[in-house]
Amino acid sequence: MMFLLAVLCVFYIWSPSTLTGGLGSTPNTIPRKTVPISSNGGRLFREEGVWNYTIMLLREDLNMLILGARETIFALDLDDITVKKAMNDCKNYIRILHKRNDDRMYVCGTKAFIPTCDYMSYADGNLTLEGKQEDGKGKCPFDPSQRYTSEMVDGVLYSATSLNFRGSEPVMMRSSEESIRTEFSSTWLNEPNFIHMAHIREGKSNPEGDDDKLYLFFSETAVEYDSYTKMDVSRVARVCKGDLGGQRTLQRKWTSFLKARLDCPVPNNNLPLLVQDVFHLCPSDWTTCVFYAVFTPQLDSSQYSAVCAYKIEDIKTVFSKGKFKASVTVETSFVKWVMYSADVPDPRPGACIDNHAREMGFTKSLDLPDKTLQFIKDKPLMDQAVKASGEKPLLVKRGAAFTRIVVATATALDRTSHQVMFIGTKSGSVLKAVNYNSEMAIMEEIQLFGPSEPVKILRLSNTKLYVGSDVGVVQLSINECGRYHTCLDCVLARDPYCGWDLNADQCSTINSTHRTSTVIQNLSYGNASRCPQIEDSKSVSVSFFHGNTVTLWCQPYSNLAQVQWQLNGRPIKASNTFQILSDSLMIFNATADASGYYTCSSVERNYQTQHVAYDLKMWSASGTTALLHNVKEKENTLVAMVVLLSLILAMLVIWNLYKGHFPLPFCHRRVKDMENRCEQSLYENQLPEHKIASSTVNLNSNNNHVNDQRYSSSRERDRLSTTVGSSGQITLKYIDDESEI
Ligand SMILES: *[C@@H]1O[C@H](CO)[C@@H](O)[C@H](O)[C@H]1NC(C)=O
Ligand SMILES: *[C@@H]1O[C@H](CO)[C@@H](O)[C@H](O)[C@H]1NC(C)=O
Ligand SMILES: *[C@@H]1O[C@H](CO)[C@@H](O)[C@H](O)[C@H]1NC(C)=O
Ligand SMILES: *[C@@H]1O[C@H](CO)[C@@H](O)[C@H](O)[C@H]1NC(C)=O
Ligand SMILES: *[C@@H]1O[C@H](CO)[C@@H](O)[C@H](O)[C@H]1NC(C)=O
Ligand SMILES: *[C@@H]1O[C@H](CO)[C@@H](O)[C@H](O)[C@H]1NC(C)=O
Repeated sequence: MMFLLAVLCVFYIWSPSTLTGGLGSTPNTIPRKTVPISSNGGRLFREEGVWNYTIMLLREDLNMLILGARETIFALDLDDITVKKAMNDCKNYIRILHKRNDDRMYVCGTKAFIPTCDYMSYADGNLTLEGKQEDGKGKCPFDPSQRYTSEMVDGVLYSATSLNFRGSEPVMMRSSEESIRTEFSSTWLNEPNFIHMAHIREGKSNPEGDDDKLYLFFSETAVEYDSYTKMDVSRVARVCKGDLGGQRTLQRKWTSFLKARLDCPVPNNNLPLLVQDVFHLCPSDWTTCVFYAVFTPQLDSSQYSAVCAYKIEDIKTVFSKGKFKASVTVETSFVKWVMYSADVPDPRPGACIDNHAREMGFTKSLDLPDKTLQFIKDKPLMDQAVKASGEKPLLVKRGAAFTRIVVATATALDRTSHQVMFIGTKSGSVLKAVNYNSEMAIMEEIQLFGPSEPVKILRLSNTKLYVGSDVGVVQLSINECGRYHTCLDCVLARDPYCGWDLNADQCSTINSTHRTSTVIQNLSYGNASRCPQIEDSKSVSVSFFHGNTVTLWCQPYSNLAQVQWQLNGRPIKASNTFQILSDSLMIFNATADASGYYTCSSVERNYQTQHVAYDLKMWSASGTTALLHNVKEKENTLVAMVVLLSLILAMLVIWNLYKGHFPLPFCHRRVKDMENRCEQSLYENQLPEHKIASSTVNLNSNNNHVNDQRYSSSRERDRLSTTVGSSGQITLKYIDDESEI
């Protein structure tokens, strides 16, 4: 039998806590749960003296995560990244890691401002570089802090970075025998910041015989606005995979480079937001592809970040059907970009070689007429912008800027599919969010790194998320249903991965064997009416001295819940005496009036849960307590020691009772089998002055009374044990006695 005893002392230290609710946030952008670093359940990998864990390659075929950091490459176990399988001190700032078809990997690094590439393979516990020392110019940046992007398609590298050290020669290029690049022209790329590249295989199944495409996302200085100050815009550009350049015009340059503005409209934002990362998801064939992009403001004065989604069909329509922009010179020197409304040559400038071009006798880009090529050389910019799906962002949130995004597909209990977004932030956390019929539900904000360690890379495997930063990498499960502790918590979270399993009495990861009759999940509405009724929690006894500041903890499981405190059944209002914080109630200068029965409940979406109840009593002036009362209140440590001693005494008494050395006045069974009520009366009768001891037995019973109060009480226990001797607001110390003293 286990005795869980608590000693309670009250201290005077005032520690500021966050006030309930977010300032200036709309309710649907507050993450429902905040998961602190201490309980995020993640696995952390970091190596002493190694920084910048910002490049990752998932090798599911080897069950490995290849991780590039500054001067080192690691091969980690994909299931547990704390297990290091191999390491290579390449003395090179790794920027590019791709898998080739031949099982080897292609690696590039900045190598002290001489970008260099090599081939690497993994065998028998070694990561081996072949020492090829290929020129990395145009593939990999010179300066590791510059944004760049690359993609490997059928063993050929497509990259977007700068060709020179100063960063003044930005290019998007293909490095192969038919190497090809963009023009050095501000009409093509104007001080760009490259973000993401994606290869979309549409060649195989396109009815018009169109080619595969490479989409490039970036931001650059705008040319199309009449603005006196420099202004940046977000862009999407695309080239055709089969492009070989032109014969005379655009020799060894893309003949298919088209770009358009990417809109992500956020109300009350004058300057366009800039794209920071893009993830594409193609649920089935290429026509279903959607690009998810995170945006942040270009001036720090606005704190809104946004997520916008773009359907591939919408992007394609702008490029294949939209009008072009052309520059006109007004008043001798000023150049203005306007819609080009005259006829466009045929084949259409920028189009890939498709059935229409083939019918005209053009089978490769080298055949294209100069008229078409000259047009695209001068006018690669589309007049129309690509609009976000639904013409508005999926999510707009104030607070820490978004840095990265990945999106997973979850199959719900009713077999519907849902896109789950994982968004990295500048403050080292990851948000998990789903959009239900254009209503955003942010399930959690999971804190992973210190507040000044931005998330720099996110990668997704089937069930895991890998998050990299300058200081380390964390592996998380994407379906951590155990974090939802009660049926209400589980169902109101609207997490498509999780449902309340009535048989198992827990929040479980949805699998194909689950039935709607035994598992509760309601994603669209968060209707939890099928959840079993919850019994109110038993009360915890707390005693205090006259004039103390008392803190009663109550941590609702959701940030969206409204906390309600009651004293003897009447709601408590904030006053000089009571202060209601998001995780506690503080009672200042407590007097006898503060004694009574306190309950803390929370209401979320009209569902009420009682989390905890306290029986608050002032120490009476009799017996041992009278003695204690004489001790100066400031000498709390002494008080604590005295209380501890009395408790040890109490435990000795219990021990003796348990061993049957004393007869039991009320309970005629062995203490071992006694019910809590019985224990309590035992305490009250044998040791009337030790109210605290009885209270702890209550708490114990609470903890063992698992079903509904599991969360609040276990959370309570975490808190209590962590506050011991540190913050000192309240000190509850459990003595976990298995059998002997
Ligand atoms: C792997 O590295 C170890 C130690 O450097 C070496 O003894 C071993 O031969 C290597 N294995 C292979 C296959 O290269
Ligand atoms: C690499 O990490 C260090 C340490 O956190 C940081 O100061 C530096 O800015 C990082 N370098 C880049 C290019 O991000
Ligand atoms: C589905 O979940 C239940 C309980 O949560 C478990 O017993 C069962 O093994 C799971 N089935 C599969 C196929 O994973
Ligand atoms: C979810 O709740 C809504 C509204 O209360 C209800 O109409 C719907 O049937 C529920 N769905 C499931 C799967 O229980
Ligand atoms: C929740 O669903 C039940 C049926 O399962 C329905 O009777 C009830 O009205 C719904 N509640 C809300 C708030 O939609
Ligand atoms: C507590 O009460 C005493 C007198 O009863 C008063 O002097 C003191 O200012 C009060 N402290 C607070 C924090 O209200």
